[in-house]
Amino acid sequence: MRILIASDHAGFELKALLAGHAREAGHDVLDLGTATPESVDYPDFAHLLARRLTAGGGDFGVLICGTGIGMSITANRHPAVRAALCHDAFTAEFARRHNDANIICMGGRTTGPGVAIQMLDIFLATPFEGGRHQRRVDKVELKPGPGVRGPGSGDDTARSAVPPNEDKERES
Ligand code: RB5
Repeated sequence: MRILIASDHAGFELKALLAGHAREAGHDVLDLGTATPESVDYPDFAHLLARRLTAGGGDFGVLICGTGIGMSITANRHPAVRAALCHDAFTAEFARRHNDANIICMGGRTTGPGVAIQMLDIFLATPFEGGRHQRRVDKVELKPGPGVRGPGSGDDTARSAVPPNEDKERES
């Protein structure tokens, strides 16, 4: 797989570790920086990676800052990015299974190296389940424009007009 990875200074060490691990696992890894531990601004790297990924430059992205929060907020401004801030094996697995996440975000100051490697391996190996989760993922993208009503349009008054999912009792 082609993996894009980027971090700010707070994720610099963890980025090097994960890039090396992914290469050893046989992935084609493109490190988009930062290239030194000097202080930089996380949005610059989140935007850079998100643009490359959504232009078809990779299969998945990995973004690391101090907490992973800034990277995830920024990357998710890009349509077609589903960046998931993960903290453990469970969140990494379900970010793929249920959310079809294409970027995993981590905190270099919150997540240890062992858990980070485990999360990356799980994230890259886990398929999206599709089905009802595809329906939900389809509802995530904003569809602005005249005449558009309902959740995601910015018109919350229409929310009650959307029928509940018939099988919602059974689903998770
Ligand atoms: C940098 O100090 C820190 O704010 C940044 O890495 C990140 O955690 C922001 O969300």
